[in-house]
Amino acid sequence: MNFVVVKDYHEMSKRAAVIVAGQIYLKSKSVIGFATGSTPMGMYRELISMYREEKLSFSEMITFNLDEYIGLAKENTNSYHYYMMENFFKHIDIEKENINMPNSNIEDIDKECRGYEKKIAETGGIDLQVLGIGKNGHIGFNEPNISFEATTHQVKLDEETILANSRFFTNIEDVPRYAISMGIQTIMFARKILLLANGKEKADALCKAVTGPITPDVPASILRLHKDVTVIMDEEASFL
Ligand code: F6R
Repeated sequence: MNFVVVKDYHEMSKRAAVIVAGQIYLKSKSVIGFATGSTPMGMYRELISMYREEKLSFSEMITFNLDEYIGLAKENTNSYHYYMMENFFKHIDIEKENINMPNSNIEDIDKECRGYEKKIAETGGIDLQVLGIGKNGHIGFNEPNISFEATTHQVKLDEETILANSRFFTNIEDVPRYAISMGIQTIMFARKILLLANGKEKADALCKAVTGPITPDVPASILRLHKDVTVIMDEEASFL
């Protein structure tokens, strides 16, 4: 694992954007796995600026998002479809058909999950996967005690995750209890991984993931067995 400690959220976002941009400069048809949530918001803003300054084109990039809630329409402002469109995709020159997100508005969720995995494989696999980390050590929506062998699947969200994500909803009751998430295996098969963490509330999870035992109790701990992971953390999240 490579560790980069930066001063604050702004620096983390800039460093992360440079890594994503570097990936696209080297291979315009890169397959990139993206995350939602508060953590990568600044990185998306930086990437949009690079696009606007004509330093970067996303016209050939293919994307796969990590996860999506079950039970929210794509147009719902809390859906991850909406998040990605509003915070990133609608501002850049990505081709619509190159955007892939789990479709949870479908009867057969298992079939959707199998299809998602198949599509990732057909594109040649993920070149770079961007991750945030949950306070309980989750990556994607792979909550503690998940099987490391899991591929894209339906997950039940932990109470801690529901509580953490309720900040985006009017009532905690409105937070979906289930989601579709890439599995740990899907994430670990990415060629490169970029893990971002900011703020003191992430310090404990990050410390356990990086210095504690490799265990499904802390899903992010498996990342230590990946050959190419860069962790960018701000001073508050840093365990160093
Ligand atoms: C989001 C995702 C989650 C988040 C994690 C951190 O697509 O898969 O694992 O990365 O819950 O969320 P934030 O960044 O909101 O603290």
